[in-house]
Amino acid sequence: MPGITLTRFLIDQQYQTQAVSSDLRLLVEVVARAIKAISVNVGKGALAGVLGEAGTGNVQGEAQKKLDVIANEILLEANEWGGHLAAMASEEMDDPHAIPHRYPKGEFLLLFDPLDGSSNIDVNVSVGTIFSVLRCPDGVSLPTEKDFLQPGTKQVCAGFAVFGPSTVLVLTLGNGVHAFTLDREMGSFVLTQANIRIPEDTQEFAINMSNMRFWEPPVKRYVDELLAGKTGVRGKDFNMRWVASMVADVYRILQRGGIFMYPRDLKDPKKPGRLRLMYEANPMAFIVEQAGGAASTGRERILDLQPTELHQRVAVVLGSKNEVERVASYHSA
Ligand code: AHG
Ligand code: MN
Ligand code: MN
Repeated sequence: MPGITLTRFLIDQQYQTQAVSSDLRLLVEVVARAIKAISVNVGKGALAGVLGEAGTGNVQGEAQKKLDVIANEILLEANEWGGHLAAMASEEMDDPHAIPHRYPKGEFLLLFDPLDGSSNIDVNVSVGTIFSVLRCPDGVSLPTEKDFLQPGTKQVCAGFAVFGPSTVLVLTLGNGVHAFTLDREMGSFVLTQANIRIPEDTQEFAINMSNMRFWEPPVKRYVDELLAGKTGVRGKDFNMRWVASMVADVYRILQRGGIFMYPRDLKDPKKPGRLRLMYEANPMAFIVEQAGGAASTGRERILDLQPTELHQRVAVVLGSKNEVERVASYHSA
């Protein structure tokens, strides 16, 4: 029995559950095709000369890697001419990218982090791509930044890919979370996990411990209690993992539970967190909630936040529901 390809899955979704329109189906197919192209480039590594610095910076003041720029170009080119988009926005571009006049326009807005985990590119550790899909507001033909500033609850689709030992695409259309593994010989994504559920409890946590001295008291208290293990108030031992590629950390949590934190800290008081709301926190929060987990800043549900800027940063606490709720309760205590 052949596997269910992404194409077949999306067609089934369109006709059986009406979870996807033909335009959204096309959008997902095009993003998946771009992800395959990024996967090929990531996989060639030094052979294709794609490692190392690009020599440029992005709007966040971060040095761009060659693969950040390549992945961004691949996503832009693939999505410009299909007629499914009104505009795109990316971590690597200051302003939204308009669809050129010569191409048809569609009803959706696409946001992406073309290459997540850039610090891991040159050391051959998993990286990925994250994307989020919103509807373009009615009557807007040339979307500007403010048209993108919709809360995460308005997402119609979100997904991410992990370029690890295998390339996996994780997708939600608002009715569960499904994972597809790239069959490299056939060139197609094949459904390998339907309706992923995150266990409500966990003994595994992910946080960059080197920031400990900058954390706020609720996070410090929570992690101290985890570290105290069996003899502390939690009465059990916890294990720690930190890949430093959010895609890989979230993928692990989808597979076996866990809590991921990049909390607000006092390292740079101007930044309310490390991760970006629109193309990192929101799509991951949508996916995690759809898998039965929770996603919070510690103070509020991420998906409820009203964005004020395209590239704004936010605190992120997500994963197994009971642990995320505990962290939130320490913030309100
Ligand atoms: P990006 O490579 O898109 O800038 O994102 C990297 C993010 C995220 O993937 C990861 O969880 C975090 O930055 C790692 O931060 P540290 O280097 O502080 O551990
Ligand atoms: Mn990222
Ligand atoms: Mn990135």
